[in-house]
Amino acid sequence: DSTLSELAAARGRFVGSILNSEWFNNSLGSDATIYESTHKANFNIVVAENEMKFDATEPSRGSFSFTKGDKLMAYAAANGMQVRGHALAWHSQVPSWVSTLAQQVESAGGSARDTLLSVLKTHIDSVVGHYKGKIREWDVVNEAINDNGTHGWRSEGSVWYQYIGRDFIDSAFVWAHKADPDAKLYYNDYALEWGMGTGTKAQFAYDSIAVRLKNAGIYITGIGTQTHIQNTHTSTPSNLRTLASKLKSIGMTMQITELDIGFALGTAISDADYAAQGHLYRQFMDLFLEAENMEAFVIWGFSDKYSWLKDQSKYNGLIFDSSFAKKPAYDSLVASL
Ligand code: XIL
Repeated sequence: DSTLSELAAARGRFVGSILNSEWFNNSLGSDATIYESTHKANFNIVVAENEMKFDATEPSRGSFSFTKGDKLMAYAAANGMQVRGHALAWHSQVPSWVSTLAQQVESAGGSARDTLLSVLKTHIDSVVGHYKGKIREWDVVNEAINDNGTHGWRSEGSVWYQYIGRDFIDSAFVWAHKADPDAKLYYNDYALEWGMGTGTKAQFAYDSIAVRLKNAGIYITGIGTQTHIQNTHTSTPSNLRTLASKLKSIGMTMQITELDIGFALGTAISDADYAAQGHLYRQFMDLFLEAENMEAFVIWGFSDKYSWLKDQSKYNGLIFDSSFAKKPAYDSLVASL
């Protein structure tokens, strides 16, 4: 039987997964062999779960750590996989030295904005520069839009927005493009699957990031939709279809970057529920294959044993079970491909 990546490659597409932190930390124990062979067989694009984020790559100012990222690059090269870099400018997983520095500069009467612009530029130059020519696409800015119902810019908890302002986004794209002109550059966010329309997050991303940057002459390839959803979100595929076609109308692409379809923790899951989960997975693959401006379909993990969902009050959202056996979701993806 053909695997996901064989089927995807035959159609000129990428199907991917993260490598979980346990893989980087050599803490998979007796799962190590099956974990790697399952991953290698099924994916032709790969993402680091945490290891290319700011805190992992620049734990202290100007001191960069690429060992884990390089491990991923070597694995990808050895197995003919492309790489999505994740993520350059995000409010989360930023080391505490960044905000400490901003506060120090501010209390000394200096410009925290200028300092953080310089910090972010150095970070992007160094990280994108280190992987120049080897990373197919970067999530340049991650989750810059609020999810408190106002769908404006995320301010709370964002050191970049608070000290720099909205233009940290513009600058991040400009610097990333300069550091690797061949890399594709994405804005990535969650809850874009609620649909387009006045006041929605997807509309704001489209108008205030995609269209605005394009009009400003700043290079951006498209939008990544994380798509961390629950098994009850059945309108999601059609909402994403709308976003993909809107992006196509302005010459941009859309990637599915972090898909998982979890069940609420504590609920019992029947065979019929797993079949329905598979059906939902299939609808995403159908829309992905139908859209001419989508290249990568990436799942945030593959085995239910290794998934961030347990921290999200959800579980069993992936396509292999905890013993690495294929779930109905896997078969559904194969059937669509
Ligand atoms: C998650 C990782 O899976 C966890 O291990 C970590 O503790 C927190 O981050 N959106 C993103 C990803 O863009 O980087 C997040 O990954 C999941 C939500």
